[in-house]
Amino acid sequence: MKSTYNLRSIAAKVIAQVLDQGQSLSNVLPIYQRDISEKDRSLLQELCFGVLRALPQLEWCIQQLMAKPLTGKQRVLHYLLMIGIYQLLYTRIPPHAALAETVNGATALKRPQLKGLINGVLRQFQRQQEELLQRLENNDARYLHPKWLLNRIKTVYPADWKNIVEANNQHPPMWLRVNRLHHQRNEYLSLLQQNGIEASQSADYPDAIRLMVPCAVTNLPGFNQGWVTIQDASAQGCIHWLAPEDGESILDLCAAPGGKTTHILEAAPKSHVLAVDIDEQRLARVKENLQRLQLNAELKQGDGRTPAVWCGDRTFDRILLDAPCSATGVIRRHPDIKWLRRDSDIAELTILQQEILEAIWPRLKPGGTLVYATCSILPEENHMQISAFLGRHPDADLVDTGDHDHPGIQKLPSLEGGDGFFYAKLVKR
Ligand SMILES: C[S@@+](CC[C@H](N)C(=O)[O-])C[C@H]1O[C@@H](n2cnc3c(N)ncnc32)[C@H](O)[C@@H]1O
Repeated sequence: MKSTYNLRSIAAKVIAQVLDQGQSLSNVLPIYQRDISEKDRSLLQELCFGVLRALPQLEWCIQQLMAKPLTGKQRVLHYLLMIGIYQLLYTRIPPHAALAETVNGATALKRPQLKGLINGVLRQFQRQQEELLQRLENNDARYLHPKWLLNRIKTVYPADWKNIVEANNQHPPMWLRVNRLHHQRNEYLSLLQQNGIEASQSADYPDAIRLMVPCAVTNLPGFNQGWVTIQDASAQGCIHWLAPEDGESILDLCAAPGGKTTHILEAAPKSHVLAVDIDEQRLARVKENLQRLQLNAELKQGDGRTPAVWCGDRTFDRILLDAPCSATGVIRRHPDIKWLRRDSDIAELTILQQEILEAIWPRLKPGGTLVYATCSILPEENHMQISAFLGRHPDADLVDTGDHDHPGIQKLPSLEGGDGFFYAKLVKR
């Protein structure tokens, strides 16, 4: 049956909400996915992720083809054009179908008078595609990053920046975390094999498995029974450094949506975990994740900068602080980050991280362990943050993770490996 909606026009609206209203793709997309067929849901996802991933390239192409871009109330049609070019460049959708559906999107967006324009620009693109792509080779737009971020990455990683950019632009690998309470990793690998799902295990993280081809969670054996969780390998590294033990009292600060809360409880099911996040809605997702895995934690909404408000004078054996950060290590999973973040955010985030660290350090018992983690690749949020902290706190020892001159372990996003991540393990004297 032919659908009553035009998918390209829906994708254009999603992209407009992200780029013009600053909303995150992971918040907006599910709202628009609700009322469409399952097949269209994944195409909508691919179009939105793809356009946000390749934005500078698509923008550049449009600039070459149009004297003036569409602005104001017609801006959403500019995004429709991007969707058209994206399909021609990156998908296997037959060009005539991609063009027809995209041109019809103008009618669905209540601008039928612009159908001719959309059609004309896309046909012109088809004719000039090869020449345009050749010319793009001389332009930084080909790296698909905003200038400020590309400059930062080049400055901090003069030898590695191209690999980082390439990893940021890839479709992310799908990693699983095997729930130790149900299966050993080998057993789960066999289950995957029996189900025709090709996978390999991580050499670095004991619970991690990478799927050769991403698949729907419904195809994973025992997903609903909590046998596995979708979680990047580097994110799993946090629990390696935290090393939680049964009987301990553990604070998981900045916990939502709970990927690490549940990992702590799988590793130490008899620990008492307090999971805290400032965002009530995101905290609801921690609850859902705990329920799926049949685990229990105490949940509190609260600001990490004011622990007295949500935990009185309690202290903890271990604290995981998965700090709010630029998320520059997870761009391949969240390409909208490139357009939502601003250069000036980095300094603000650094202050917030410092304030949370300072507020929470007194809540660690003597001899206790605090793991500071971010999914950032920028030094201000990572080793510089920890260096400054160690300078201010003679009662903090850096353990196992780096040295005094370069505290912490910085993981960079890699094609076959995990996301960009940073960990520092601090023990209180
Ligand atoms: C990197 S995410 C945490 C991911 C989570 N640990 C996991 O593994 O699923 C950072 C979290 O910090 C929360 N956050 C931001 N500012 C905060 C604050 N001042 N106090 C507590 N939580 C905060 C955000 O709501 C967000 O959920």
